[in-house]
Amino acid sequence: AVERTLSIIKPDAVAKNVVGEILSRFEKADLRIIGARMVHLSREDAEKFYAVHSERPFFDALVSFMISGPVMVQALEGENAIAKNRDLMGATNPKEAEAGTIRGDFAESIDANAVHGSDAPETAEQEIAFFFGQDGLCPR
Ligand code: CMP
Repeated sequence: AVERTLSIIKPDAVAKNVVGEILSRFEKADLRIIGARMVHLSREDAEKFYAVHSERPFFDALVSFMISGPVMVQALEGENAIAKNRDLMGATNPKEAEAGTIRGDFAESIDANAVHGSDAPETAEQEIAFFFGQDGLCPR
């Protein structure tokens, strides 16, 4: 089925100047960019976005990293978009990510892991609404 997923190119990958290379991987995999925004998140926004992780030991490090520089946020649409994006990203921990995946090729550590992608249809919907609201998308 055609799905939507939220993708974030994190501060490490933006700093490395590989935004275009990463977006190109999505396009080559037939994912369409139906929304895109570059933003430097406030601590409050990052805490809100990652609220499901608020009790985890890595929460503070994650939030601090995500506000350390600008991020490039996109809504992607395509067949099986959520799983497809997760395959393109590779394992959360770049030490476990295969070469040829985004994290395998560009990520340094479990926090500085280049990209975020939604993990399920419900979270995708919430995460897209968080960044793009009701009418911030350009569906095709
Ligand atoms: P992301 O997909 O953005 O979702 C939560 C993030 O927390 C994850 O990617 C990692 O960058 C970060 N993180 C740090 N430590 C861990 C951990 N032990 N398990 C999962 N995620 C972690």
